[in-house]
Amino acid sequence: MKKVVCPGSFDPITFGHLDIIKRASSLFDEVVVAVLVNKTKMSLFSVEERMEMIREVTSQYPNVSVASWSGLLVDYCEAHDIHTIVKGLRAVTDFDYELQMSQMNLQLKGVETLFMSTAPAHSFLSSSLVKEIATYDGDISAYVPAQLVARVKSALNAK
Ligand code: PNS
Repeated sequence: MKKVVCPGSFDPITFGHLDIIKRASSLFDEVVVAVLVNKTKMSLFSVEERMEMIREVTSQYPNVSVASWSGLLVDYCEAHDIHTIVKGLRAVTDFDYELQMSQMNLQLKGVETLFMSTAPAHSFLSSSLVKEIATYDGDISAYVPAQLVARVKSALNAK
């Protein structure tokens, strides 16, 4: 039984994240999408809202579950008997930091990281850019699932 974690902020989840989750769900028995509780980072959505949105858009994958954690990812992995992290790599700009984190996570608790290359259609996509586009009333329907478009816009309007 191979259980992996796809960690991130997911503020909000995008088609880029979804593509990695979907591909991971076809490769592994169980995929836990884990949302970081980060009190120092300003986020648009609460952790509960982000988890709810992820649940909504991954409901067609029976082996995908949603969780949250605070603290070190390797401690979460150890507590939940997960030995592998799956992450998407968009471009070389992601690589330096991701490599460093993966080596640190391996050193800290022997947790492996598997990188999946992001589908080219999503290689420029990030949650931050989605929020920026929506802030200025741009069309984000190509970047987040349809049921989240209005939600992102109204969360930004409420700010
Ligand atoms: O979606 P993000 O913000 O790029 O995800 C980054 C995340 C949350 C996966 C990463 O920052 C992380 O794992 N943070 C948890 C704290 C931790 O374990 N830090 C040490 C990494 S070596």
